[in-house]
Amino acid sequence: MYPESVRASLAAVEAAREANIAYEPRRMTADEKSALLAAFHPDHRKDAFETLVIGPNKGELVPHELAEMLQAKSRITSDAVDLTKPDYDVDVLVIGGGGAGSSAAIEAHEAGANVMIVTKLRLGDANTMMAEGGIQAADKPNDSPAIHFLDAFGGGHFAAKRDLLSKLVCDAPEAIQWLSKLGVEFDKMPDGTMVTTHGGGTSRKRMHAARDYSGAEIMRTLRDEVLNREIPVVDFTAAIELILDENGKAAGAVLMNMETKDLYVARAKTVIIATGGAGRMHYQGFPTSNHYGATADGLVLGYRAGAKLLYADTLQYHPTGAAYPSQIFGALVTEKVRSLGAKLVNANGEVFMHPLETRDVSAASIIRECNERGNGVATTNGYGVWLDTPMIEKIGGEGTIEARIPAMMRMFGQYGIDIRKEPILVYPTLHYQNGGLDITPDGMTTEVENLFVAGEAVGGIHGRNRLMGNSLLDIIVFGRSAGQHAAAKSKDVTVGALTLAHIDAFDAARAEAGLENDAVSPKLLPNYTKERSEV
Ligand code: FUM
Repeated sequence: MYPESVRASLAAVEAAREANIAYEPRRMTADEKSALLAAFHPDHRKDAFETLVIGPNKGELVPHELAEMLQAKSRITSDAVDLTKPDYDVDVLVIGGGGAGSSAAIEAHEAGANVMIVTKLRLGDANTMMAEGGIQAADKPNDSPAIHFLDAFGGGHFAAKRDLLSKLVCDAPEAIQWLSKLGVEFDKMPDGTMVTTHGGGTSRKRMHAARDYSGAEIMRTLRDEVLNREIPVVDFTAAIELILDENGKAAGAVLMNMETKDLYVARAKTVIIATGGAGRMHYQGFPTSNHYGATADGLVLGYRAGAKLLYADTLQYHPTGAAYPSQIFGALVTEKVRSLGAKLVNANGEVFMHPLETRDVSAASIIRECNERGNGVATTNGYGVWLDTPMIEKIGGEGTIEARIPAMMRMFGQYGIDIRKEPILVYPTLHYQNGGLDITPDGMTTEVENLFVAGEAVGGIHGRNRLMGNSLLDIIVFGRSAGQHAAAKSKDVTVGALTLAHIDAFDAARAEAGLENDAVSPKLLPNYTKERSEV
């Protein structure tokens, strides 16, 4: 139910609906996009960033909140654990129990490695589970990996590492087959062909989905596979520091039970960081669509051990986070809503942009509409614009919403908003970290041998902006690949004496740079409560 205060605006949207359906807004030119991003995208707010003064990316800009964690003290001292008596000893240690970590573990297990997953929450508690719109793969006759590459390369401002992006798009069709064989139920036509739709910035319909809970369906399947293979999972246990060996190679992690705070040593021939994203860092005070555990842990662990970051200054603000009601403020409203025909409309009922511009452009356009042009709708949490969902049924026919985006219908229905009849209010929400640890195509970090990374903790696959559906894809492609390469590498590894000397070196660098704050990292959980902020 909407409050009285927005009723006049709502009436304007309803009155303009038929004309707005017929209206085809043009796409912005490259120059228009550049000017818009420079003025309104949060990545361009200079006061929100600071220069790192220690570590492998010294001299580079990152958000204040990330700088604090990257340059913080370790949660432990270098003598906190007995490294000569490991509690776990494995070939491949996977840190993170989401889609990338699970895919990596499955492939490492398939390759015959002794693999273990450690996760600070439970297996499957991850952003993968919350992904909605779908996964891209060029597997239709009118499409190709080359076209997929061009879409993603342009959408990412030509900054993606070409070898990583090339691997992403070339391995995509096989990733869909792999998931299908494991049991993922993708939406299909009566003849069995996959239903595919557009996303922002795609020139072909290549989004494969399971309704609007694609990530949950994928995570359900991966989790079953991990459990069926009886891969050990140590849950409610966080990796709080990487362990290196005397030769500077990754050789395990110090683990902390989230409940008891007891510490454990896991020795490993290879380590895979698959810790996901950073939405719960709430950069610039934005709400987030992310899972509770998304606190940039992997970036911190890798950075302190000497691994480099790439594009850590670029974040993705999903254009359509829920702006109303407060209970779901920042929750993801899938781009699929726009793929199915809903347009973005301002407080006066005017369509102000093409609904499927790339995400950074769409987010900046909404921010401009609300902040500069004064065309936003005031809500309890700031401003929003309308996403005119009733257009979907007028275009696609009655029943389309329930059939294609049932989770959206249910989420808003809980608050008395029937999205088949009434539009919804949206505003950008912190959704994805475009940057992360720098890797080679086999998934190993460029600086630390035997340290692999997969999923959202990787930087460079998507450049400076990611297209919808390429994240569910990268967790599968790079998760599987990291598992395969880490397993193969582990066969040739002899682990030297374990050490945490890098903590001392980092402390020395902190002192030399005059960093005197008491911040510790990784953060592990957001500090929403007094108890949490004291942890
Ligand atoms: O809009 C969405 O469904 C989000 C998809 C993605 O981030 O890839």
